[in-house]
Amino acid sequence: LATPAWAAAPGNIEVIAHRGGSVNAPENTLAACALARAQQADACEFDIQQTKDHQLVLMHDETLSRTTDVEQVFPGRSPWHVADFTLAEIRRLDAGSWFSSRYRDERVPTLREALDQLGGSGTGLLLEVKHSPRSPDIDQQVAAVLQETRDQWRGNLVLQTFDWRALRVVHDQVPEVPIVLLGNPSLEQLRGVADYVRGVTLSQRLVTEEYIKELRRKHMRVYAIAGGRRPVIRRLMGYGVDGILTSNPERVAELTWRR
Ligand code: G3P
Ligand code: CA
Repeated sequence: LATPAWAAAPGNIEVIAHRGGSVNAPENTLAACALARAQQADACEFDIQQTKDHQLVLMHDETLSRTTDVEQVFPGRSPWHVADFTLAEIRRLDAGSWFSSRYRDERVPTLREALDQLGGSGTGLLLEVKHSPRSPDIDQQVAAVLQETRDQWRGNLVLQTFDWRALRVVHDQVPEVPIVLLGNPSLEQLRGVADYVRGVTLSQRLVTEEYIKELRRKHMRVYAIAGGRRPVIRRLMGYGVDGILTSNPERVAELTWRR
């Protein structure tokens, strides 16, 4: 995987704000990523879901309940699946108050908005496509948006997914987008997708130094999900991962001597 434009100075570890950075701001919002950038994150990780009218929004859960006021705004629409609401409906929701009144009226961002705002900013985007039977054509929609916005994100975007086969669709249409696998794939599984997969994002519990060395020999990039605990972050840094996904970018930036 060619080093993404967001990569930290040589020898430094990339700090990637998980869900945009969810400790100090509401997850998957542009406000969260703005704060993460101020805290010296190199990139923001966001989750992509599809609306009823096939638009792409940044949202982690399949339902809108946990991170918006959807139950108050649309009380009769249980169980509030993202895929059952149009973009116009979702844009009416407050995606910040559940976290803190400071973020009242923060909106659920669209993928395009995130690309418009962050694409040329120097902040990288690690985008996770969330696959579900409710949104069977999400990969085609992602590919279409990425094709139209190439100039905004060039060199500064990586896609990741737990559904290892699905992103081949995106790869075929936008081959310059690096694809990274989630879910701790075995070396055997990686061989099966070696023609288009360029890295892995691993859960910290399962990262071993041995495995990282093996991935390096295969020229794969390695990201590890670390939460915010200092000992875990230090261990991963010692293993030589390329980047750390953290809900607390400020802490990782501090440990990687950026301050
Ligand atoms: O980057 C991987 C990670 O985001 C997967 O977990 O549940 O936060 O999307 P989740
Ligand atoms: Ca994610």
